[in-house]
Amino acid sequence: MILHYVCNIVRFKKWKILMLIGVCALVSRVNVILQSLYPSITQLTELPKCPACYGVSACHDIHKIDLIWDDINAIISHLFGVKNVFFGTYNQTKVVLKKLAHSSELEAFDITLCDILHLGYPCSVFIPLDRYTAQFYDLIRKAITSDFSKDDTSRLRLCPTLSHLDDLFYNVHLNNKHINPTQYLINLWTLVSINPEPLILQILPAENGWPVPKYYGACGRIIVEEYVGLPLADYYDKSWIQRIKIASSLLNAAYMFTFKDKNFGFYLTDVSADNIAVDNENVAKFIDLENIIIVDKNVSQEDEPKGWQKIHKNTMHFDFPNLNCFSYSAEDICNHYLSDHNYYAICQLLLNAENQNPFFGEFLHDIPTNIEQQYPDIQYLLRQCAIPDSKNSRIFFGQQLKILLDTILKEYLNVMQHEIS
Ligand SMILES: Nc1ncnc2c1ncn2[C@@H]1O[C@H](COP(=O)(O)OP(=O)(O)OP(=O)(O)O)[C@@H](O)[C@H]1O
Ligand SMILES: [Mg+2]
Repeated sequence: MILHYVCNIVRFKKWKILMLIGVCALVSRVNVILQSLYPSITQLTELPKCPACYGVSACHDIHKIDLIWDDINAIISHLFGVKNVFFGTYNQTKVVLKKLAHSSELEAFDITLCDILHLGYPCSVFIPLDRYTAQFYDLIRKAITSDFSKDDTSRLRLCPTLSHLDDLFYNVHLNNKHINPTQYLINLWTLVSINPEPLILQILPAENGWPVPKYYGACGRIIVEEYVGLPLADYYDKSWIQRIKIASSLLNAAYMFTFKDKNFGFYLTDVSADNIAVDNENVAKFIDLENIIIVDKNVSQEDEPKGWQKIHKNTMHFDFPNLNCFSYSAEDICNHYLSDHNYYAICQLLLNAENQNPFFGEFLHDIPTNIEQQYPDIQYLLRQCAIPDSKNSRIFFGQQLKILLDTILKEYLNVMQHEIS
């Protein structure tokens, strides 16, 4: 009797039952769908992957960060794992969260890790710490090798020798002195293999005036850093005085990375309008520090490469005069105690802005006629810094340009103050 009744319901209300089952299934999956569209911070950190991660210094506070999902790019970034850069707020301050690599790169790293441990992929995330100390130290040295014949892809390169590696990492060692040494080595190796940005942010802290974002720490496979502002690309149409201030700060950055540290020269090898952001005081900061060559300025005499004492000049524009591309030789930069590479990168960026985006012209466009008449050298100095005549020094012209831009800024401020009073 009951069976007959149930059969009748199924027969006559089949579509309703099917719909009900469908709705139930959907409701039970909503959570899963939402989680994959809007993952929580905890999901993003992938903490179980530690110690093959970036560290845990920010874990105690990470749950206080509110992710901002009002931007479609954020969702796309997460779904396709392409940029893997997220924005959030912490105590009402905007912060940036980075996974430091595309999802495919992270997977390739995990495969390498399993390989090293002689385990099949996906391997257990648990690593018996004590057994691997020496191996990971060697792997770190290998990852930042300056052996050009074997490897031209390392993201952080210390050259011409690794003898002062521990001096370079002094701040990083200091910030991590309470961590289990093997765990720390694995963190370091993960970073030099995937993306050394957090290491550079600690070696060159924003708190000491370096033109980079402040580093707030890491939690698993996520790092947290200061949100600087909009990318440089968004400033091509801003007022000329704003652009002069930004250009001056860029030349200042070229000076700092090259000269400020007496032990190491820092040469950025991925300088583009997308990898620089501008803060609310019109100061440019370098927000993508994935690719960098670090030259040890104090190598012993027997380790000095031939021509070490000469300043390296990037002459790519002579070799490829018709190509407006950004090119350099890592080997040449490494073989000289000083290189004009940073000035080359910045002045090229200022001059060939259209290279970064086909719709833009030079960054210092539309300077008022009276200013150009008063300071007719602006364009000449910029050109000599970007593509100098064979005998000219790019660094000299870059520095002269900075002095000129600062003079214009000072005079402009004086005039403004005079008008107000
Ligand atoms: N600290 C920051 N402050 C403000 N914006 C940032 C910051 N870091 C990253 N961004 C924004 O996120 C974008 C991507 O960041 P980043 O360059 O680090 O990632 P990426 O994946 O390396 O990109 P790509 O490899 O394409 O250069 C930047 O172009 C910039 O617009
Ligand atoms: Mg970038």
